[in-house]
Amino acid sequence: MSSVKTAVFPVAGLGTRFLPATKSVAKEMLSIVDKPLIQYGAEEAIEAGINKLVFIVGRTKNSIIDHFDKSYELETELEIRGKLDLLKIVKDVIPDGVACVFIRQSEALGLGHAVLCAEAAVGNHPFAVILPDDLIRNEGNGCVKQMVKVFDEYQSSIIGTQTVAIEESDKYGMVAGEQIGDRIARVEQIVEKPAPSEAPSNQAIVGRYVLTPAIFDLLRTTQRGAGDEIQLTDGIAALREYEQVLSYSFEGRRYDCGSKMGYLQATVEFALEHEELADDFKKYLKQLKL
Ligand code: UTP
Repeated sequence: MSSVKTAVFPVAGLGTRFLPATKSVAKEMLSIVDKPLIQYGAEEAIEAGINKLVFIVGRTKNSIIDHFDKSYELETELEIRGKLDLLKIVKDVIPDGVACVFIRQSEALGLGHAVLCAEAAVGNHPFAVILPDDLIRNEGNGCVKQMVKVFDEYQSSIIGTQTVAIEESDKYGMVAGEQIGDRIARVEQIVEKPAPSEAPSNQAIVGRYVLTPAIFDLLRTTQRGAGDEIQLTDGIAALREYEQVLSYSFEGRRYDCGSKMGYLQATVEFALEHEELADDFKKYLKQLKL
């Protein structure tokens, strides 16, 4: 059985790229077709055998807490109306045996600080970090499940990575290292949002990590970095001085749903695969004659 049982969802960012939609609604509650981003992330964690979901939330994120709460009124009403298929969808948001913990990050001091807020809930155990606005789809095992498998083999922290155009390096944490296995490298350089000329490679960190609890001590002393925020990347760079850190180039397609373009791409592609919508949506797109 895997040793990774907890996933942290740092969802306390301001989501400024989606204003005004995100003025009072969490970015992670934006839906791709009919399911909020946060739920895709939760399902990916649960598929990997994780049974504790820790959400680091900010002030505008109460809808996330409500989404994962039991909705007695809705469930009773659906039962009375005999809408049992919908009742199942609502009940399955959080399956039995999965616990949710919510922690407020009272100030948006950065992703590293948000992860540090999870320390008491995580304890002295390895844990996954999932940024739900990076939506990852794979035909086979989900991204977190792939990474947990690698963790179980190596017992080292792992960063999920993907190849990006070098001109985009200033939007990502970038890593470089020595290949030690299929899709697996030992991280030797890691830097947050470098200019293309400073990027160590074209391997970008996307929103999936499995970390050992040693990261917490390092985040406590991590100074503000890029964007004047406490960066998780800087904490991991410090961790690398004590422990081996790996990168894993996961299998699957990633949509950057924190950007409008990525969000639209995911919406169109998920609709084209949706069992109720696919045929009609395809016909609709064809008649647009773009
Ligand atoms: P982003 O860089 O995407 O920032 O954060 P953001 O605020 O969500 O969105 P924009 O750029 O303003 O549109 C990366 C992840 O880190 C979380 C965010 O919620 C997101 O999941 N985060 C960031 C926190 O939880 N707390 C923070 O202080 C900062």
